[in-house]
Amino acid sequence: MASSSSVTALLALLAALAEATLYKTTAPPMGWNSYNFYGCNPAEDIIKENAQGLVDLGLADLGYVYLTTDCGWMTSDRDSEGRLQWNTTLFPSGGGKALGDYLHGLGLKFGLYSGAGYYQCGSTDLPASLGYEEIDAETFADWGGDSLKYDNCYAVTPDTMVDYVSAEATSPDRHQKMATSLDSVDRDVAYFICQWGIGEDLEEWAPPIADTFRISNDIYTSWRNMWRITNQVVPFYRSTTVGAYPDMDMLIVGLGALSLQEEKFHFSMWAINKSPLGIGAPANEELTPTESFDILRNTEIIAINQDSLGKQARLIRRYTEEEWDIWAGELSGSRMVLGIANWKNNTQTVAVDLAAVNVSEASARDAWEAADLGVISGVQTYELAGHEMRILVLSDIVTASSSQVSAGYYSAANATLAGNTTDTACGSGECIPAGSKVSITGGNSSVTFASVTASTDGSKLIGVDYVNYELALDTSWGWGSNTLNMTVAVNRGAPKRWAFPISGGDWYESDRMFLEVGGFVAGVNQVVFAASGDASAPDLVGFEVFE
Ligand SMILES: *[C@@H]1O[C@H](CO)[C@@H](O)[C@H](O)[C@H]1NC(C)=O
Ligand SMILES: *[C@@H]1O[C@H](CO)[C@@H](O)[C@H](O)[C@H]1NC(C)=O
Ligand SMILES: *[C@@H]1O[C@H](CO)[C@@H](O)[C@H](O)[C@H]1NC(C)=O
Ligand SMILES: *[C@@H]1O[C@H](CO)[C@@H](O)[C@H](O)[C@H]1NC(C)=O
Ligand SMILES: *[C@@H]1O[C@H](CO)[C@@H](O)[C@H](O)[C@H]1NC(C)=O
Ligand SMILES: *[C@@H]1O[C@H](CO)[C@@H](O)[C@H](O)[C@H]1NC(C)=O
Ligand SMILES: *[C@@H]1O[C@H](CO)[C@@H](O)[C@H](O)[C@H]1NC(C)=O
Repeated sequence: MASSSSVTALLALLAALAEATLYKTTAPPMGWNSYNFYGCNPAEDIIKENAQGLVDLGLADLGYVYLTTDCGWMTSDRDSEGRLQWNTTLFPSGGGKALGDYLHGLGLKFGLYSGAGYYQCGSTDLPASLGYEEIDAETFADWGGDSLKYDNCYAVTPDTMVDYVSAEATSPDRHQKMATSLDSVDRDVAYFICQWGIGEDLEEWAPPIADTFRISNDIYTSWRNMWRITNQVVPFYRSTTVGAYPDMDMLIVGLGALSLQEEKFHFSMWAINKSPLGIGAPANEELTPTESFDILRNTEIIAINQDSLGKQARLIRRYTEEEWDIWAGELSGSRMVLGIANWKNNTQTVAVDLAAVNVSEASARDAWEAADLGVISGVQTYELAGHEMRILVLSDIVTASSSQVSAGYYSAANATLAGNTTDTACGSGECIPAGSKVSITGGNSSVTFASVTASTDGSKLIGVDYVNYELALDTSWGWGSNTLNMTVAVNRGAPKRWAFPISGGDWYESDRMFLEVGGFVAGVNQVVFAASGDASAPDLVGFEVFE
């Protein structure tokens, strides 16, 4: 899965960590951050009003305690001892220790912000921490800092703010340096890496050194972020655990970009994936709707996010053309969270077969409705409003013995290739399970399996092993989705399209998506995987048929 250089880096890092004391939270950190509403223009009155608001609105009591002043707090010069300084025009009482004491007095935690580059994001002259890691870590601790969000602007030169691709910008080294520096100070400082998910193997290098790590480019106030960021968090289920949470970025709940239904969807998706929950809206009832605060205050959704197991939910089924997904995640107490996501902006009725999550029957509770649904089993139908995400918590689960039996594995390397397709052998542990993959680049490119055997007619569950590492970075601001489309056609039937999310940490780490595909006959079948239109498909490793 990892290239040898990243393995070497990882080993060096683990050796360094053996001596260090890492501070890890026991649940995804919850809090408030100034950036989404105030940009890089924080000020003392803004921070204090929001701090008081977190307390007065009951948000602090629910766990939203890490209050972070994001970009814009410092002056352009370090002091005579090389320390960062708060801008006292903006923070008349001096920021730093005084601000930390104020927040601690309210029962909050003091969140600091800097970056692993020459200058801070959103500025051309405010100093960041590259080359000053030790002194900055000590200063943050002296001020009583409880967390550090660590950005990635001007990583390579003082001239270029954002670099998504160069080896230096994508290297873990600068973020590792700050981890080591924080570990050596005499205070517990939770480390929130904000490197935007660039480079490779984030899920290998970040979890050992950070409490949270941003897996994607910035969120902004629009519904389309939900699809983009969700498709990027999918593969992190492998590394997410207590003290290592994938950060899907601060919430846009309450910022006026989404309907209330969409705000609930957003909060649900972040919660089940064990993202930290950072409020981005002002903690002020004159600026943020009460209904949005009620979403942020939903104790049942918060409890799912804060569950002691720290297990990220997984994408179980995706019905791409029908525009809905099933997600499921393990919860403490032998419970399970089931998320049913309606990506469609219309009401639709969906059928969820509990066998897909190995459940024969269970007691169900609708978390948003705060209603017990009694015992459910078999295939359940749910009517979902447009952009609704239904969250069910299952308990007293009776496990189903798997009815799905493998009816054969088909490696793409053995198939007939047409159009712009390339067969690539992968290294050991890569392109699991076949060890090779076929790229399917653009229009009229396809991979044909001429003899796929089935014992009965009808729809089959197939597990498609694929690789997608087409990260939405520059395209994040537009329609970048972190998906690649691929169609599947059985026995010359109409091709059906499926949107495959990011599969892992590079172009060789595969994941499996389960599709229900119709049109099989008992006997020999032809199955064709193809690019959809002129866009590339994900790389195809192979697929398994279940009957
Ligand atoms: C402090 O912030 C104000 C307002 O943004 C700005 O005009 C001023 O230049 C800053 N001071 C320093 C020393 O950076
Ligand atoms: C969803 O539908 C509503 C109602 O028709 C509409 O106002 C809204 O703009 C739609 N949202 C998106 C993201 O298309
Ligand atoms: C269901 O059981 C199968 C076989 O043990 C396992 O591979 C799969 O991960 C399980 N699925 C879920 C959602 O737990
Ligand atoms: C691929 O083809 C080789 C040679 O015909 C065969 O031995 C192997 O079983 C096939 N594997 C798969 C997974 O289709
Ligand atoms: C085939 O795909 C490669 C990328 O994999 C691309 O560079 C090349 O232009 C494509 N060729 C054609 C004829 O589309
Ligand atoms: C795909 O085939 C169609 C029909 O032959 C042709 O019009 C189109 O140009 C082809 N597209 C590409 C990208 O080769
Ligand atoms: C996938 O297909 C849909 C429907 O044609 C399209 O809207 C979307 O842009 C495609 N996505 C990609 C990444 O090509």
